[in-house]
Amino acid sequence: GAPVTADIAGLEAGQMITLAWRGKPVWIIKRTPEMVESLAKVKGDLADPESTVDHQPKYAQNETRSVKPDIMVMVGSCTHLGCSPTFRPDHPAPEIAPNWQGGFYCPCHGSKFDLAGRVYRGVPAPTNLVVPPYKFEGDNSVVIG
Ligand code: FES
Repeated sequence: GAPVTADIAGLEAGQMITLAWRGKPVWIIKRTPEMVESLAKVKGDLADPESTVDHQPKYAQNETRSVKPDIMVMVGSCTHLGCSPTFRPDHPAPEIAPNWQGGFYCPCHGSKFDLAGRVYRGVPAPTNLVVPPYKFEGDNSVVIG
């Protein structure tokens, strides 16, 4: 499929947009500084906090799993059976997890992911959400694919 370009000039901190790429939803989220800071707080609850499972671009193998710390790009399909997790930026949400700092919750079988798409331990989803190939063209244009 052809690459897809997203204009993120109007994307505000804390917001998410969804686009379609190769028939899949791709999310772009502009994380607030608090959201970026929250990533360190959940490390102990995650199955693969360093994204060592080798299915990710090199630039996703860091704590924020992104090229730029604030801009998160990922495929919005649960790595369990492909349902679409819901964006739950709210914190606290103890009904999701005691130490919930915001993230994504899959309604199908209860998988939980943090704001970098890193999967929590003890849920059905085996791996972190997928980061697609992408690059920036200037500050406000993200090219996916
Ligand atoms: Fe998401 Fe099963 S498809 S938990």
